[in-house]
Amino acid sequence: MFDLVIYNGVIVNSSTIIYPPSYIGIKNEKIACISTEPLTGTRSIDAKGGFITPGGIDAHVHVSQPCTSDTFDSATRSSICGGTTSFVCFATQERGVKSAIPDLKNYLALADGKCYCDYAMHMIVTDPTPTFLEEEMPIIVKDYGITSVKVYMTYKIWSVNDKQILQVLIMGRKLGVTTMIHAENNDVIEFLIDKFEKTGQTEPYFHAASRPFICEDEASYRAISLANTVDQALLIVHMSTKESMAHVRKAQTKNCPIYSETCPQYLFLTSEYLKSHTHEHKTTPVIDDGYEIEVSQNDSFQGAKYICSPPIRETQDELEGVWQAIENGTVTVYSSDHSPCNYDDKEGKKKGLKEDGSMDFAVVPNGLPGVETRLPLLFCYGVETGRISPQRFVEVSSTNPAALYGMSSFKGSIDIGLDADLVIWYPKGEMKPFKLTNEMLHHDIDHTPFAGMTFTNWPRYSILRGKVVWDRDNGGLKEVVPEGKYLKRGRSTMTMKRSEVPPKYFY
Ligand SMILES: *[C@@H]1O[C@H](CO)[C@@H](O)[C@H](O)[C@H]1NC(C)=O
Repeated sequence: MFDLVIYNGVIVNSSTIIYPPSYIGIKNEKIACISTEPLTGTRSIDAKGGFITPGGIDAHVHVSQPCTSDTFDSATRSSICGGTTSFVCFATQERGVKSAIPDLKNYLALADGKCYCDYAMHMIVTDPTPTFLEEEMPIIVKDYGITSVKVYMTYKIWSVNDKQILQVLIMGRKLGVTTMIHAENNDVIEFLIDKFEKTGQTEPYFHAASRPFICEDEASYRAISLANTVDQALLIVHMSTKESMAHVRKAQTKNCPIYSETCPQYLFLTSEYLKSHTHEHKTTPVIDDGYEIEVSQNDSFQGAKYICSPPIRETQDELEGVWQAIENGTVTVYSSDHSPCNYDDKEGKKKGLKEDGSMDFAVVPNGLPGVETRLPLLFCYGVETGRISPQRFVEVSSTNPAALYGMSSFKGSIDIGLDADLVIWYPKGEMKPFKLTNEMLHHDIDHTPFAGMTFTNWPRYSILRGKVVWDRDNGGLKEVVPEGKYLKRGRSTMTMKRSEVPPKYFY
């Protein structure tokens, strides 16, 4: 007798599909049996022939950081309502602190007992001192199960130089830690910001103009070169251009463990949105299903809602390049980079709008909300249109994030012994399509960049460790007590040493 049986679904993993008749038996929060023969459970759910995919893992989420209006409570709630049952957010090693551990403990305390989905943490490294790399990181790995770090090549207050990147990569190699990198050339950006500010070009659009694709192109190539210098794996986060993706592809073709992440904003939005002060903004989406965003014409600062870094790009052609990289295997993980701040807030996006009506894009907090819309967007515009296979969808949104960040032994696939984290979708054509409004979402943010887009599907159920936490047809959010737990992670299975031969520059 199982706690829950889900039957009559199309069970999708990153490499396989099982068609009905199918039965998933869940016991004690785990998948206990997958069968073509009937199973009986205390409760059962008829998937009605819809896809069943592993619960989404969003490996790039910012929560309760300065400028991030979502708290653990609201971000994790929003997450499960969009089918993401686990996410990885960021603790930060602030520059100049003696030890990163007290801040880490405080950050963990903010999450404790507040989360509706399971959660893990990466560590942002801003000050890779020998003490941090050699003494603290081993503790952070062992005691806290944090097996990934992120470094920035941009943002003065956090960025590290090339030598420091090498030092972080070498630490990663020793400890089995995945290194993530935000690749944009900071000097070019600062140079351009100065130019635009001097000439009074300070509206939101100039944020994108100050970070042209060449910044990411150059920095991603440099980051790959650094990783290859010490023969270490590297994931470049939120990649937005076909030029930088081409560098990753080339490295992968040479069998270098170089990985790429992209996000929905680089698949669906162009920088036209940043110009909403001058344009009534309409855009042709990738898929021919016209949508329009309603913009109040008397608010000339609206474009600030779309400020993120790297910026959303200029042309449909750029979006196509990112889609192609998803289709052809170059993209390893698809994350949201949920990094939201309210629009109508002096500390939020409107920080860049002064009393006298003048604007300053350079002080607007960067980032967009997206943890809830991530999976449905790729499902509707990727899987339902036939652009990518359901297996590829599962791979980039769940299986690969689990593998890359050391969670494969408990999450990321529908398999015996793993956590029973599942999403049940509507059979194609069975859900009434709708246009998204911000009110439909469960975050604590006053806007969504994807408002107005049509959704042809959405998670019908989200199941976290065997418990139905979202039931769209019966009141939506089910959970009253947040039962998400902290995930201690193991070593990445995608960054293992490929050979015991030390790289020639290394020792
Ligand atoms: C895959 O897509 C990337 C990014 O657009 C491109 O650079 C690469 O040439 C493509 N590779 C293949 C084999 O199609």
